[in-house]
Formats: sequence, structure tokens, C-alpha cells
Amino acid sequence: MSFEINAVRFVLDGRIVEAKGKRRTTTVLDYLREELHRTGTKEGCAEGDCGACVVLVGELNAAGTAVDYKPVNSCMQLLPTLDGKSVKTVESLKKPDGSLHPIQAEMVACHGSQCGFCTPGIVMALTGMVQVNACPSRQDVNDALSGNLCRCTGYKPIIDATLKACTRPAAELKLQDSADLPQLKQIATPKQPSVNLEGELITEPTVRTKKGSEFVTPATVDALASYLMQHPSATMLAGSTEIGLKVNKQFIRPQHIVYVGDVAELRTSAETASTWTFGASVPLEEIMQRVKATLPDFAEVLRRFGSPPIRSTATLAGNIANGSPIGDSMPCLMALGAVLHLRKGSAKRKVALDAFYTGMKANVLTPGEFITAIEVPKLKASEAFRAHKISKRFDQDISATCAAMRYRLDGDTFKDVRIAFNGMAPSPCTAPKLEAAIQGRTRTELENGVINAKLDAAIAASFPARDGLRATWAYRSLVARNLIAGFVEDALQETATA
Ligand SMILES: Cc1cc2nc3c(=O)[nH]c(=O)nc-3n(C[C@H](O)[C@H](O)[C@H](O)COP(=O)(O)OP(=O)(O)OC[C@H]3O[C@@H](n4cnc5c(N)ncnc54)[C@H](O)[C@@H]3O)c2cc1C
Ligand code: FES
Ligand code: FES
Repeated sequence: MSFEINAVRFVLDGRIVEAKGKRRTTTVLDYLREELHRTGTKEGCAEGDCGACVVLVGELNAAGTAVDYKPVNSCMQLLPTLDGKSVKTVESLKKPDGSLHPIQAEMVACHGSQCGFCTPGIVMALTGMVQVNACPSRQDVNDALSGNLCRCTGYKPIIDATLKACTRPAAELKLQDSADLPQLKQIATPKQPSVNLEGELITEPTVRTKKGSEFVTPATVDALASYLMQHPSATMLAGSTEIGLKVNKQFIRPQHIVYVGDVAELRTSAETASTWTFGASVPLEEIMQRVKATLPDFAEVLRRFGSPPIRSTATLAGNIANGSPIGDSMPCLMALGAVLHLRKGSAKRKVALDAFYTGMKANVLTPGEFITAIEVPKLKASEAFRAHKISKRFDQDISATCAAMRYRLDGDTFKDVRIAFNGMAPSPCTAPKLEAAIQGRTRTELENGVINAKLDAAIAASFPARDGLRATWAYRSLVARNLIAGFVEDALQETATA
């Protein structure tokens, strides 16, 4: 039963919806289907893999002049995160004169649908793409579809339909949001928290139950820090791509949920000549765009991280705090020398990411402490960075292992080598013995397969030889060695041809 006292307010096609009396863990998908009868949005897997549930969630842009939409897996998102936002489902696309959106029309014309179960999710993923990229390449369309499974049609007609739709004027592809703008402004949540007579911050819950469970949405990092001091065991919710899974598959119902996605300071990224500082709630999609010119291998690991709807909400902080042994961002961040900015109440400290983990899914965070930002050093002029993820499927799959290496070549001698992996130990980690196998060595010392023996010995001395669900130890250790040997070989070839 639910006894919530507050309403979650969001905009759906020009009208404000007030969702009252719903559990704080109700998913957006369930609400859309069961309460609003928007049954075009389907449930396939309820774990972010199939894309049948994709809808677009929009927020007012900074100038307040338009709505920025992103594709999300509605099965993973909790209803209270919609507060103050706008939603578009497949039913939203039909124009007042009954005509279809160009993506829909071309899906019909190109026979891009058979049983149709996947089609609404595919249409919404593609409609999301064309909001920001009206002239996609075939590869862009493939990427946009990497989180959508179709078991009937095959992807060719779907891709053809999209490319054909994109020959139409960009304005025809844009979602009409003029009716949503005034409504979004009306329900905008206050950007400053209120203060009681004693000057203490009050974080008003979006949802509170009679039993005292609540879902709060602080607007500032001070309000978040203060709330976590009062409720140190509260569950922090960022992109919900891990927590949503626990809600759907393990049926967890945290008593206190504190959503960090609306904390303005945590959503900003800053850049200097030597570092990026990514706020804890900056989605991976944005980080991928920011690093792709200078760290293409890191951007490629992020491009293969889940799918666009996963990356549009998932965060680096969530990946790091979750601490999966096969988390993909951590090897890259460790090799680059990333530092975490932590906060507890008003106290702040910094911890190097390679000193963050204390064991399997265990870390140095103390109760009430959280990540505010991830500081990532940029490469110095003479440095290089390589990374590669190995998984059974190329797209939308988790790692068997992912390796990253930063180094500097002084002539043909390797200097300042830093190597990190996932999938090799109980947590992602650096590999000092592998670094030592390469550090200070020259071309002649590393050529002709000599490096393989050195790396094999270093791997055997560094990691527990354990088979895992994703791969056997024999496979993982061979792949890990080959990845690093490949990075070294590429570097030496580049210097030979320079
Ligand atoms: C379909 C699918 C595909 C995926 N693919 C990949 C993949 O390719 N590679 C990969 O590594 N992972 C993958 N994941 C896992 C997941 O997407 C990532 O771990 C993601 O980065 C989690 O971020 P989030 O913001 O969604 O975290 P959430 O689910 O919101 O939270 C995860 C954990 O982090 C904590 N947390 C969040 N923010 C903070 C903070 N600021 N300070 C302290 N703690 C915090 C939360 O309390 C929670 O314990 C996938 C998941 C799904 C469902
Ligand atoms: S239902 Fe499969 S991704 Fe949401
Ligand atoms: S049309 Fe049947 S699953 Fe795609």
C-alpha cells in the first residue's frame, strides 16, 4: 500500500500530470502503462537491455526557450525523478492532423516492423537521436539502436527507414514542444532549498509515506550533504541504471532515497588546461562528447558502455561507487590518474581513484559521505593513452576485461607507464607489476615476443587465477596480456614510422 502525501508533477503533451499516491519505487514505465494507459511503451526485460520501454524525458534548456530531450529506459527510472520534467511517449508523436512523425512513416514504408513489440522503443530511440543529430551517418543510426533489440525484422529496414526520414527538413523531425514550455515553467522545482527558523536546511520530500519512507530531491549540494548527515544510510540515486535493476529484480525498497540528478552543482563540468572536473551527476553521454577529441579510446569505451538510453542517465560516480569488478570507466580513469572529490557534511577531501576500493564492492566512503566530482588529468604533450574493452558482444555488453594504459615515450624508451584493468581482481585496479615490466625499457628490450613472457609473469604475480562467469582465467589473462602487448606494439610502430 502507499500513502504518499505529495504529488510528482510532470508535463505530458502540453498538460501537467500530477501523480499522487504512488510508491516511491514505482517505475516510469509502470505509471505510463497502468495509470496513463500509454501502452505503446512496452516492457520486455525490465533491466535496461531490450529498449522496448524507451521514452524521451525533457528538461527546459538553460535559456528556458526549448526542451532538451534524452532517451531513457523507462523501466529503470523511478517515477519521482520525473518531477519538474516533460515526457514524450510514442503516442506523443502523432500530429494533430493525424499524420505520423517521419521516423514512423518511413518505418511503415520500409517495412521496419513485423510483430511490432520493439517498434515503439525503436521509434523513440531514433526520434531522440534526430533531436540532436538530424543528419546521422549509418554508424550513428547503429549506435542509436545499440540498446534496442528486434527479434523479427532485422535492422536493415529500420536503418534504411531512419536514413530516409532524415532526408526530410530538420524542422519536420523536431518534436513540437511549444505547448510544453509554459507548463514546464509552472512546475519548475525551486532551485534554492528552504531554511527553518534555526537556519537549518530543509529538504522537502517529493514523496513521503505515512511509514516515514521518503524520496527527496535536493536542489543544492549543501542540502544533499545535510540530508545525508541526518540519514547516513539513505540510498543515493543518480542515473538509476544499477538501483533500477535492484528495484525491479531484487525488489529492494529503500526507506530513504535521495536523488542527486537535480543537484545543480553536481551536473556541471569544468575544464582547465590540465584537468577536467566532472560533477558526480553528469551523464556518461556528456562525458563521452567532452573527451572524444583528446582521448578517443576512452570515448570509445564509453560509446560501448550500455546504450544511449543508459548513458543518457548513468553517471561516472554511480559506476565508481557501485564498484563492480567489471565496471568500465574505472580502468580508464585509474590509468589517467583520476581523483575523487568527496564530501561529508561540510568536510571535503580528495582520494585518488586507485586508493578508493578496499575490496569487492567496498570502498573508503564513510556513512553520509559521497562523491561530488571526478577530477581527470589531461594528457601532457608527450603522453599517450590507450584503452580497449573485450566483451562477448561488441555493443551493449559488459566486459570480460577492459585494459587502459597511459605512457610517455622518450625516444624509444617507455616512461611514466600506468596500467589499469577491470575483470582481473575483486575490484578494478592498477597493475604496478605490469607497469614495471614496461617502464624504462627500450624497443629492443620489448620486441620479438620478449614482452609477452614478461607480461605473463607479471599477470601471474599480480592477480588471483580465478575463473569467472564472464570468462575463464586462461582467456582473461591471455586477453589482458595481448591488450597491453598490443598497446606497446602500436606505440613502437608509431615511433618507427614517425
Ligand atoms: C543495460 C545496462 C547496461 C550496462 N552497461 C554497462 C557497461 O557497459 N559498463 C559498465 O561499467 N556498467 C554498465 N552498466 C551498469 C551501470 O549502468 C553503471 O554502473 C552506471 O555507471 C551506474 O551509474 P548510475 O548513475 O546509473 O548509478 P545508480 O544506479 O543511480 O547508483 C549506483 C550506485 O552508486 C551510488 N551513487 C550514485 N551517485 C553517487 C555519488 N555521487 N556518491 C556516492 N555514491 C553514489 C548509488 O547509491 C548506488 O549505490 C549497465 C547497466 C545496464 C542496466
Ligand atoms: S523493458 Fe527492456 S529495456 Fe526496459
Ligand atoms: S518487430 Fe518483432 S521484435 Fe521487432
